[in-house]
Amino acid sequence: MKMQELQAEILRLKKETNTAILAHSYQGREIVEIADFTGDSYKLSVDASRVQADNILFCGVHFMAETAKMLSPEKHVFLANSGAGCPMAEQMDRDIIGQLKAKEPDRAVVAYINTTAELKTVCDVCVTSSSAVKIVGAMESNKILFIPDCNLGSYVKKCLPDKDIKLLQGGCPVHASVTAKDAEQAKKAHPNALLLVHPECVPAVVEMADYVGSTSGIMNYAIKSENQEFIIGTELSIAEHLQYECPEKKFYPLSKKILCPNMKLTTLPDVYRSLKGMESGDAFEIHMSDELIVNARKCIDEMIRLGG
Ligand code: 13P
Ligand code: SF4
Repeated sequence: MKMQELQAEILRLKKETNTAILAHSYQGREIVEIADFTGDSYKLSVDASRVQADNILFCGVHFMAETAKMLSPEKHVFLANSGAGCPMAEQMDRDIIGQLKAKEPDRAVVAYINTTAELKTVCDVCVTSSSAVKIVGAMESNKILFIPDCNLGSYVKKCLPDKDIKLLQGGCPVHASVTAKDAEQAKKAHPNALLLVHPECVPAVVEMADYVGSTSGIMNYAIKSENQEFIIGTELSIAEHLQYECPEKKFYPLSKKILCPNMKLTTLPDVYRSLKGMESGDAFEIHMSDELIVNARKCIDEMIRLGG
């Protein structure tokens, strides 16, 4: 089947099965085109809580589909490619964080949304890259343990110097692979371009940026800016999507290394097979116990309350 035929068949099946497709912006163009909702992690969480369809099909990674299930527990939530996980989400152990919490009960645990539902059960509030500074700033507690991304944590710490923020060693291996030298080279190659960087990058790269923000933040900034050239310091798809949205501007990836293999696992045939297999049980459905949903959801509700 040709790509357009497959897309048309997906749109038909989506209607027939009453399914909403949620796609993270790191998905390829062909998937973004058939999605009902696209955006960064925060936007998709809010979309998942408001969706009207019977089924949600998530094109992204496992923790995102889990979050959608927690926010819409009455719906069937599927992940288009069962192998798509986020290595950062698996980096920290619930029991270890639980022990740290018991040692310092007055230190609130803030979890980046890129964490498993199990880990979320011992966290006080969740954040995304677009909401972290606002949410930590709005929290009553001045003592924070920020997990798992020490790069995003360092950025929050720098923006909120009055808060006592403790970090642990963890983060996104994809964004953290970019060095200050990569950024220097990119700036030298494109002297008229603004450098837009995701806070999952290391502090030395973030410090060199003209703008720091989430996936959606970077896209909105580049679309609205009067500048014509941009170096994009996040997953390679964002430079591609921007080039499509603004053909008159120029977008250069900060580094070819920022390619998330997990985000790139999902293909149109995966989406098609998932829609076909929903009834027969052949699609990958997210199942979570009611207890896990109730306990893990508290910190997501708190994120929406403080970030809204
Ligand atoms: P945002 O969607 O919050 O920009 O996060 C990027 C990311 O790495 C998601 O896995
Ligand atoms: Fe995880 Fe990084 Fe990939 Fe996002 S880009 S899914 S944080 S590995």
